[in-house]
Amino acid sequence: MNVHDSEKIAGIFAESGYDHAENASDADVIVLNTCSIRQKAEQKVYSDLGRLKGIKKKNPDVKIAVAGCIAQQRGNVLFKRFPYVDFVFGPSNIEDLQKWVKNTPASRFVPNLRGQISALQDNPNFHTKPLPLKREGQVRAWVSIMYGCDNFCAYCVVPYTRGRERSRQSSDVYNEVKALAVQGFKEITLLGQNVNSYGKNLNEKIDFPDLLKAIHEVSGIERIRFVTSHPRDLSRKLIEMMRDLPEVCKHIHLPVQAGSDRILHLMNRGYTYNEYRGKIDMLRNAIPDIAVTTDIITGFPGETDKDFQCTINALSEIEFDGIFAFKYSERPDTKALSLDGHIDEKTKSGRLSHVLDLQASITYKKNKTLEGETLEILVEGLSENDTDKLTGRTGTNKIVNFKGEMGNYKGRLVNVKILEAKRHSLNGEMAHR
Ligand code: 5AD
Ligand code: SF4
Repeated sequence: MNVHDSEKIAGIFAESGYDHAENASDADVIVLNTCSIRQKAEQKVYSDLGRLKGIKKKNPDVKIAVAGCIAQQRGNVLFKRFPYVDFVFGPSNIEDLQKWVKNTPASRFVPNLRGQISALQDNPNFHTKPLPLKREGQVRAWVSIMYGCDNFCAYCVVPYTRGRERSRQSSDVYNEVKALAVQGFKEITLLGQNVNSYGKNLNEKIDFPDLLKAIHEVSGIERIRFVTSHPRDLSRKLIEMMRDLPEVCKHIHLPVQAGSDRILHLMNRGYTYNEYRGKIDMLRNAIPDIAVTTDIITGFPGETDKDFQCTINALSEIEFDGIFAFKYSERPDTKALSLDGHIDEKTKSGRLSHVLDLQASITYKKNKTLEGETLEILVEGLSENDTDKLTGRTGTNKIVNFKGEMGNYKGRLVNVKILEAKRHSLNGEMAHR
């Protein structure tokens, strides 16, 4: 989500003729796009801002902007603590940046901005019109289908920083995907905090499975992915659509967060573990080779050893293809702050290691079963670690590095025989074209 916002910010500057500076010290404008999902990300922003002080001292004309969720939540505090910050804007105010920058070349834009400016108001109509985008890569692209979130999970800052949930018109999404196909992109990932509730606030009668079906019609796009699905809202209709539309990847990211019903309730997740389990069964019955990944939080307030054991049991029982796991992190404004039983760091870390160790063995075991299989890979380019190899992903989102003829394979689907499973990737060789 945040990386995609950075593409929008870069796009706005590029539209007005700005180039990307290699180093911060060469830049006319420095934008820090920030994330506040966990405290660690927030602390990193403060240390980055601290470092920028020296740059501003050397070059007082450089403009420093802070964008994203930290700007949204801490805007005025940021101005006080880092007086050399020139402007702050929240995730719903990227359009304001366009107003400031548009048609203003770097030479004029810089002196134009005087004083500290902030744009942090909630903007319910944000993105009714398309923004320019500077996309990373040429094979895979993100497309936002909705903004914000109304779920108010007890630990989560997103509803406070990104505002109320609103969906984009399906025609806007469709046109963006069509334009990407024309530009040669082969894979798109539809983005939203809770894609399963797409369409709720729109005048047109459409839900997420309908949107998938419409997008599936776009020729040139070979793969469609989406994140993130909320387990409570995952419908049979969506599962059937995933099963029936060949270009929709057989992978779902379905954050469970915890295995204990008591903790799930305190988290305000809206489902029990058995209900979650039921959705997994439904997915696997409909699409036997589907990959399922999840998010886990360890040490949520009140989590006892017994509760934590439920998370461990869930991981062993479901055997996810991969997980992202985090220690619970206190976030401003959230309901979890006022809960009893906050857990000490050592226990949170110990539980996190336990979860990661268990999952590492499960992921490896699952990867091992793919040895000898031939899988379809969308080639993204040269492998970063070994430029003699190409890299790409399976439809189930596993990274595969493989030997093959160099040449025009980027953006193409090729068959690769898996020779060796690694912990985080697979090695193989091209089977045939
Ligand atoms: N502490 C720890 N993890 C969090 N996440 C969101 N908020 C917090 C928090 N306060 C995790 C959830 C979510 C993922 C994007 O980040 O697991 O699914
Ligand atoms: Fe946060 Fe919950 Fe919304 Fe996800 S669904 S963004 S965890 S509030």
